[in-house]
Amino acid sequence: MDLSKKIREVQDFPKEGINFKDITTLLQDKDAFQYMVNELCDQLKDLDIDIVIGPESRGFLVGAPVAYKIGAGFVPVRKPGKLPYETMRHEYQLEYGSDALEIHKDAIQPGQKVAILDDLLATGGTVLATAKLVEALGGEVVSINFLIELVFLNGRSVLKPYNIKALVSYDA
Ligand code: PRP
Ligand code: MG
Repeated sequence: MDLSKKIREVQDFPKEGINFKDITTLLQDKDAFQYMVNELCDQLKDLDIDIVIGPESRGFLVGAPVAYKIGAGFVPVRKPGKLPYETMRHEYQLEYGSDALEIHKDAIQPGQKVAILDDLLATGGTVLATAKLVEALGGEVVSINFLIELVFLNGRSVLKPYNIKALVSYDA
């Protein structure tokens, strides 16, 4: 199945010049959703993953069904102030200003094998911050998997040490 045909492109959203990749059209299509989850699970087979992490919020949509299917736990990484228990925070730079992500301090045990899943690789900032949180807790980032990669933003360059895969790539 060509998943790119299931992703809607919305011009000038959320601001002029951005060609937004809308995954809601994929998720609402039962065959495409199932195909996406199965393909991501296939990429993780034989890796013995303990925990799947999905960064808020679209990472939840991709990560949770994959965790369920491969028999791993699911851990959310969230925007600041959303997690109720003790957290660890990682701040990262955006083009203008900074952002931060948090994880529960007891979410990962040292030595656990972790896969990070998200819908989209753009600059790589979100997933790099997520990887830093995993490593700070002693987890091992075994794989990072995306539905979509925006190749022209070169997010792979900041994620060099990791094993990166994406199902659909856009060159422009
Ligand atoms: C989007 C997308 C990825 C991230 C990719 O999330 O879902 O998580 O941006 O960008 P990056 O590679 O440059 O970090 P967003 O922060 O818009 O939040 P959302 O998932 O809650 O919509
Ligand atoms: Mg996101």
